[in-house]
Amino acid sequence: MTINPVFTDASPLAPVPPEQQFFTDVVSGLSAGQKYLSAKYFYDAAGSDLFEAITRQLEYYPTRTELGILDAEGPAIAASLPQRADLVEFGSGSTVKVRRLLRHLPDLSAYVPVDVSESFLLSEAEALVKDFPRIAIEPVAADFTRPFTLPDSLHGEAVAGFFPGSTIGNFEPQQATQLLAHFGRVLGRDATLIVGVDLVKDVGILEAAYDDAAGVTAAFNLNLLTRINRELDGDFALEDFTHRAFFNPRASRIEMHLVSMKAQTVRVAERSFAFAQGESIHTENSYKYTVAGFRSLAVEAGWEPGSVWTDADNLFSVHALKRR
Ligand code: SAH
Ligand code: AVI
Repeated sequence: MTINPVFTDASPLAPVPPEQQFFTDVVSGLSAGQKYLSAKYFYDAAGSDLFEAITRQLEYYPTRTELGILDAEGPAIAASLPQRADLVEFGSGSTVKVRRLLRHLPDLSAYVPVDVSESFLLSEAEALVKDFPRIAIEPVAADFTRPFTLPDSLHGEAVAGFFPGSTIGNFEPQQATQLLAHFGRVLGRDATLIVGVDLVKDVGILEAAYDDAAGVTAAFNLNLLTRINRELDGDFALEDFTHRAFFNPRASRIEMHLVSMKAQTVRVAERSFAFAQGESIHTENSYKYTVAGFRSLAVEAGWEPGSVWTDADNLFSVHALKRR
């Protein structure tokens, strides 16, 4: 079977080509007082592979901990979803987690992986078709933060969402609230949403997870500059930038930065951007929540919190939410 992904654009009225959006976002981010780039641009093909490599690092506890929760609590999590539903995953990546749920959802009508990393999305979808022949696999290549429509071909009796990996943590709390409200609109009335959320913990554990000894997270961070060089005709010298990750306790988030090792000017397309020595580009936030803190954020976004599952060490949490 050949997979035909649905490609949806941000705005049905004024579609912006993705390369132009990337250029516009890079120019505004590098022109700001505190330079920044959006974390969604990490995920080109190389970035997706590097993220998968991060999940295999000893220091990066979130993936194996969430998988442990899905294994231990899979039947209960699956039971919180409606029967004969269509399941939409926002930022589906390697689909390793949804596979743990699909085995407990024999009556699922369709699975809709949504991701910006298009080639990765398609290869994962093809593998799922082989492994789960009874479920319709309907990939959607889209930025899930922007308006998009679900495929017309869905026939389930209900729609449910899956948002694992603590990808919600990569959004500022106000944006995270808006995103959960947006998912509610995409999924429709009476939807259920399962969300994986990383928890506040010892700073040493958190900082090691974002600065592994093998340097994989550093390579993931620096790959953003490689992508700008290739796609936007940039001239970043990677050896002149270094990876930095630290916990900001006031904001309860890990921050990742790329720090300029010297005063320099970098060109992207026809534009130049000056860096002082030590000046950084803020590339990612990864917010860490308490269970109660995340539940109140969900309430603000129009969801009713239901069951919560955690591991024995309270490192990570999985929440069932019902649309109010
Ligand atoms: N859900 C998977 C993958 C998490 S990694 C898991 O838990 O293991 C985050 C994924 O979200 C990546 O595959 C990335 O390509 C995707 N992603 C990040 N920002 C996105 C956006 N704005 N729209 C769509 N996909 C996005
Ligand atoms: C995808 N996201 C939840 C990861 C995180 O932990 O914030 C991305 C990541 N960045 C560095 N390591 C992993």
